[in-house]
Amino acid sequence: MKLRSIELSLPDPAAAAAFMVDVWGLVGAEVRGTTHYLRGSGPDPYLVAFAPGDEFVRSTTFVCTGDELAALKARVAAAGWPARPAVSGDPGGGHGIAVELPEGELLRFLADAAETAPIEGYSKASKRVMPVKLTHVVFNAVDAEASGHAVEQVLGFRVSDRTRGMVFVRCNDSHHSTAFARAGFASLNHIAFEMDDLDAVMRGIGWMRDNGFQPAWGPGRHGPGANVYAYYIAPFGPVIEYSTAVEKVPADYRTGEPDDWTWPEQRIDQWGISDKDFAGLRLAEERFCFRREWEPAPLEN
Ligand SMILES: [Fe+2]
Repeated sequence: MKLRSIELSLPDPAAAAAFMVDVWGLVGAEVRGTTHYLRGSGPDPYLVAFAPGDEFVRSTTFVCTGDELAALKARVAAAGWPARPAVSGDPGGGHGIAVELPEGELLRFLADAAETAPIEGYSKASKRVMPVKLTHVVFNAVDAEASGHAVEQVLGFRVSDRTRGMVFVRCNDSHHSTAFARAGFASLNHIAFEMDDLDAVMRGIGWMRDNGFQPAWGPGRHGPGANVYAYYIAPFGPVIEYSTAVEKVPADYRTGEPDDWTWPEQRIDQWGISDKDFAGLRLAEERFCFRREWEPAPLEN
């Protein structure tokens, strides 16, 4: 099981795609109909899809095995969550299910989704950078604790750590592929892109600076997951992150609690160099909510 992509609806997909290619470092994979698909250097056929419309999250897509899909279908049906069979019309194809979580998050799980040839050596050849893949998509939640329990029980995910602000959740040995922020409202919190290494994150910050963008938070190194980060508010709305080297955890990883993750006074990251635009980030985090474009239907066995 792994996180693969996020599918957004927004008013000007072409402008959003141009920013994500020309400035952020993604590569145009395909325009299919009116939807723009952008990829990174890794094997995923695309990481973000932009379709025209209002601002909302259409889905967040995970890819899995046939056995994992069969188990998900059974548990989702037993839980009674809104769901339906899904056949992907996006690059890579695949089939599976679309699921609505209790606070409206829309996840899609696909089996038999194809990968594509990675792009080698790009970031070393120029001052440009290229994200590799998505590393996490985080959601704001009214009740993050309940959301964490729900995805453990129904999706088979595991809570890795709880902090005063977040419930971090994994679906494989990566410390988190998603998380629920204790926000008091439900929406997209941010989208994080995995970079090759620390150097690539710092080069990314430099390239963004060349283009007139300053981090809204970072650079810094998180506590839980220990990943390096630099967060930006994209000109088309959402919060996006350059990140690298999230911790790998064993299956018996001890779930941390908020008291395990406290900072000294005036600190919000391991390095102690990180400023944060709380107000700007909050406004950006409120913009993309979830809108289900499908009607629930029975899941076939
Ligand atoms: Fe993040």
